[in-house]
Amino acid sequence: MSAPNKSYDPVEVSALQPEELDRARDEALAAIASAADLDALKRARLAHAGDRSPLALANREIGALPPQARAEAGKRIGAARGAVGQALKARQAELEEERDQRVLVEEAVDVTLPWERGARGARHPLTTIRERMADVFVSMGFEVSEGPEVEAEWFNFDALNFKPDHPARTMQDTFFVGSEDTGLVLRTHTSPLQIRSLLTKPLPVYVVAPGRTYRTDELDATHSPVFHQLEGLVVDEGITMADLRGGIDAFVNGMFGEGLTTRMRPSYFPFTEPSAEVDMRCFVCRGASAEPGGEPCRTCSSEGWIELGGCGMVNPRVLVACGIDPDRYSGWAFGLGIDRTLMFRHGAEDMHDMMEGDVRFTLPFGMEI
Ligand code: PHE
Repeated sequence: MSAPNKSYDPVEVSALQPEELDRARDEALAAIASAADLDALKRARLAHAGDRSPLALANREIGALPPQARAEAGKRIGAARGAVGQALKARQAELEEERDQRVLVEEAVDVTLPWERGARGARHPLTTIRERMADVFVSMGFEVSEGPEVEAEWFNFDALNFKPDHPARTMQDTFFVGSEDTGLVLRTHTSPLQIRSLLTKPLPVYVVAPGRTYRTDELDATHSPVFHQLEGLVVDEGITMADLRGGIDAFVNGMFGEGLTTRMRPSYFPFTEPSAEVDMRCFVCRGASAEPGGEPCRTCSSEGWIELGGCGMVNPRVLVACGIDPDRYSGWAFGLGIDRTLMFRHGAEDMHDMMEGDVRFTLPFGMEI
């Protein structure tokens, strides 16, 4: 006969009774089945399969049973724990699947919705075309130079050989800064850059100077008190009018395509001698609209030619004003309208559009750089 098991505790071991085990198992299965989400299931797992759950505690009691009872108790408790473990696993899978389905629905992103609703701006087409125009000269080795828009009268007029009584100096054309005797004006053209370049740069000088210019014009479809010019200046030894023509032709071909001719009409500017107005062949009709029976052309108003701006050979007086020996050096200069170029190159018809900064005008030009 084996000795009685001294540590046998009938109260504790009642946990191993078949009814007790069944009850613990059924409670566990009920809690698992009713767990509505993964958090609830986690709590059920802890309560019914954790270290301190009734089944785990019962399992620990096996060792307290008399040896002959252990196998059977072990089997029963193993079955109960197995059933709970399986139920947990199944419910876990079910709830995970449910969660994944819900996330797919709740966190769905409609990739067809419009994006970037915030309006984007664009570079102003005047900025773009001004860079493009200057670039044609940069590619020929010219330097880009800029100067102040509030300019000394001396740079804007005197050094450029405007006599004191020249009509362009009057209030009718020029914005004076403060009273007329401050000697300051809003520059009426970019030609003061000729003087500024010749006074500051070593010879020879090859510069283009794009910038904003001002005259007391009323704003209408073709005029604006604020407009833009591109000044060009070359001063070197042996420069002739053929170089001027060549420079302008290169610009026209670089900007509008090969094979377009230019023409010069005699003109007058105090700072160039001789002076000319320069036109280019219309790049749309190539002159055909001006021929008898030619289709009308909007770009050149059926003139066959498009006006580019003024030009000429640098007046020796200007060279002298800048301390340059006119017997050794000569040069050419031009002033082209940037706004005008934008208008005829892109068919923009109203100056107001240039001024108003409306993106409906600027956006179609895109982000050309
Ligand atoms: N500055 C002149 C104008 O505004 C243009 C020009 C520039 C003419 C250079 C000759 C040479 O009309």
